[in-house]
Amino acid sequence: MHKEKQNISGVIRFFRGSQLLGLSKHDGTDTISELSKLCDVEIPTNCTSGTCGTCMVTLNSGIVALPDELPPGLDFDLVENMARLSCIGIPSGDVDIEVRPPL
Ligand code: FES
Repeated sequence: MHKEKQNISGVIRFFRGSQLLGLSKHDGTDTISELSKLCDVEIPTNCTSGTCGTCMVTLNSGIVALPDELPPGLDFDLVENMARLSCIGIPSGDVDIEVRPPL
């Protein structure tokens, strides 16, 4: 099956500031957390269920859809500042991630 047809596959890149830490191809099914491990990028996790906020990163560009109901680890202010949770966030297409949470 050609996964491009759903337009969800792409490349996720991990940055700290302007420094590229690593990148990984993805098929739109793995979480940011899982993909970061594939390219040896360290993002701390704790609950791995969207509750604690430990794994929070910043979406620099691209799409990481949010669930209809925000998980306990996010609030609207954080979302406005492009916060995403690595343990539950699934990238779609080409996505750039800042490994630190928004300020
Ligand atoms: S590890 Fe707790 S919200 Fe992701």
